This record gives sequence, structure tokens and C-alpha cells, in this order.
Amino acid sequence: MTENELLKILKEHDQEHVVDMYKKLDEKGKKKLAAQIARVDWSMISMAGHEEMKQKRGKLEPLSALEVSEIEKNKARYEEIGIDAIKAGKVGAVLLAGGQGTRLGSDGPKGKYNIGVTKDLFIFECLINNLLDVTKKAGCYVPLYVMTSDKNHEETVSFFEEKNYFGYERNFVKFFKQEMAPSVDFNGKLYMESEDSLSLSPNGNGGWFYSMAVTGVLDDVKAKGVEWLNIFAVDNVLQRIVDPVFVGATLDSGCVSGAKVVRKADPNEKVGVLCLEDGRPSIVEYYEMTDEIINSREPNGDLSYNFGVILNYLFRVDKLEKIMNEKMPVHIVEKKIPYMAADGTYVNPEEPNGYKFELLVLDMIHLLDDCLSFEVVRDYEFAPIKNKTGVDSVDSARALLQKNGVEL
Ligand code: UTP
Repeated sequence: MTENELLKILKEHDQEHVVDMYKKLDEKGKKKLAAQIARVDWSMISMAGHEEMKQKRGKLEPLSALEVSEIEKNKARYEEIGIDAIKAGKVGAVLLAGGQGTRLGSDGPKGKYNIGVTKDLFIFECLINNLLDVTKKAGCYVPLYVMTSDKNHEETVSFFEEKNYFGYERNFVKFFKQEMAPSVDFNGKLYMESEDSLSLSPNGNGGWFYSMAVTGVLDDVKAKGVEWLNIFAVDNVLQRIVDPVFVGATLDSGCVSGAKVVRKADPNEKVGVLCLEDGRPSIVEYYEMTDEIINSREPNGDLSYNFGVILNYLFRVDKLEKIMNEKMPVHIVEKKIPYMAADGTYVNPEEPNGYKFELLVLDMIHLLDDCLSFEVVRDYEFAPIKNKTGVDSVDSARALLQKNGVEL
């Protein structure tokens, strides 16, 4: 793109303040900022503040889950199928660790957070311990791909190095960076982070497979013959990773994806619910559902929309490749965005001051033909650390870890 084209694009999109910044830069700075601007998705930026542009939901219907009682009956068989697949090298794991953990408020990667009480126990360590339970049982390592972002990549990699990969085989671990997206104020003006840089932040957890492809990590998946990827969040310290029973049940079901779900604590619990939308699997947020849908019940008295997702999914790699370039909905979220003001001062807002644009992994489910809804027991598998105290916090996760016999 020539300089004139660049300035024209900025003016066309009412970003004169960026033009002013750009003009003051030396050649190196201009090159850096121009490269960032060339990557801006203007159709996404123009959605800021326009609720009406949000995708409307289709026809919702309940999707039954493979419930715990049924899983228990077939556990040995599922486990055998799962272990066989793991031994055959067909299953890999993807740790989504590119988020900024703003609610927890700790600087740096969330996985570095120490949740130990009498000894050190880092979130990353906890997850690796969970994975080691499986690899010991299977007698082989599972390829682990760790997604980071520009904001935490170096720190994440050096932490794994420093801690000797928490006892995992380092040759089975690969890191890759996710894409970044710009943020804007409530009027759609791009925020600047410094004179020669837009304010960029990780673009949500939904671009993970695309990022695996563009960073070349997908070549490793294919070279190793991995057919399934189990993706999981960094903050649920209790979850089973590459759980052979989950893998076996999904393979046995013939579905191309699987999602671990927990029974809702009450109809109004704020979780994304796995259901059908226009006949395809879909995850719908509580605020997208009417009261009637939320409270509807099956003949046995159970809620019709009873199962919430916990960000632990299994995907068939060949199907992911097919949907990789399909357009996913962009979620526009109000956030506190630190930025550099026109006078060069740095502002760290106390309240949300603009929008970030995110893709979410839960939207991938709707692009696939089917998904096994696999129930797990909340108290054994769901201890997310989002906040310092209160709900989904370090405190609640510690209590659940102790309940499950994890020494802190
Ligand atoms: P959250 O939605 O809880 O976001 O991420 P977060 O960034 O960790 O925390 P807050 O909202 O700022 O407090 C759920 C999972 O998705 C990953 C996170 O690392 C976590 O494992 N994630 C999120 C990414 O990998 N990239 C992103 O851009 C966002």
C-alpha cells in the first residue's frame, strides 16, 4: 500500500487523529504503523456501537446430553477407545493462554499465578499435572500446543523453561501466537498505544485454529498424525485434559466435535448453553434467551436447556480445516482500554472506555454438523479462576481443588 492510499483509507474511516500521529513519525515508525493499519478489518471496526448489526439468533431447540449416569455405565468401554486413540497418537491438546486475565488483575500470563497455599502451585503446573495423569495411564506423551499472544508470549515460554515444563516432555510442547485486533473508543476511533502503534489486544480465543495454521504449528499436528484436538482454557484448574472417557465417547458417537458441559446450577445461571440452532449445534448465551426458553422443562421436569459449556472441547482436525476460513461472528465487548492520548499522555481508565473485538471458540461449534454434549460433574471438573475473590475466583478454585484431594 502506498502512503497516499494509507492516508486515504484512514480519512475515509474518520481516523484523522491517526493521520496526525503518522505524519509526525520517522521512516521506521511509519513502516510499523502502516503495517498495523494495513491489517485492520474495517468492516469489524464499523460495527462498534451498532447493536443492530449483530447476528440474530435462529430457531433454538434443546440438545440432549450424554449424561453422567449413562457415561458411568459405559465408562470402561469409552476409556478403552480413548486410550487406544491417545496411544495411536491421534489426540493433541491446545491450551488457550492468550488472554489477558484482566479480571484477575495479575500482570503477565494467568498461568503463572500461584494458587498454592503451603507450597508453590502455579496454574500452568496444575494443568500439566492433570494432563500427566492421562499420559501416565496411556504410557505416552500427548502433543501440547500452547496459544499465547504478543502480550505474554516471551514470559510464558520462559516460565515453562524455568520450571522445566513442570515435568512434561518439552519436545511435545509447541507455542504459537494468536492474532491481535485493534480497539476503539465509543465513537469508533482507533486507540493508540504509543506514537507508532495502535492499541492492539488478543483477538479472542476463537481464532486459535487459524493461528495454528498461519504460524505453521498445524504442520506439526499433521506431521504427527493428530486427528483430534482437545482445546481447553487456562483458568479451569480442575478440568481433565485429553480425558480418555470424553475422547472415547466422542469417537464412539460419530460426532465431529464434543463439548464438556455441566448441569446448570439454576435456570438463570450465566453460562453459555449448548443447544440446537436451526438444526445445528450452537452455544447460546443466557442473555440471548427468552424467559420462556430459559424456564422451559422436559416431561421429566429437567430444564430443556440444562447444560452449560466449560470451554473444554474436542474437534476433528479435518473438519476444522474445512471451516477455518469461514466468517465467524465478531463479539464487540466494552472494556477498559489503556491508551495514549493526543497530547502524548498515557491514560489508564478506571471504567470501560471503548470496545475490543473478539472471536469466540464457542462459535466454531455452530459451523460444525454435530457435537456430543458430554456431561461432567461440576465439583470434579469446573473450577475456573476469573476473579481474585468471590464467584469463580482463586478462593473458590482452592476450595474445589482441596475437595478433590489436591495438596495446596
Ligand atoms: P476469558 O474469556 O476468561 O478471558 O478467557 P481472559 O482474557 O482470560 O480474562 P479477562 O476476561 O480479561 O478477565 C477464556 C480462555 O480463553 C483464553 C484465555 O486465556 C482463557 O484460557 N483467551 C481469551 C485467549 O487465549 N485469547 C484471547 O484473546 C482471549
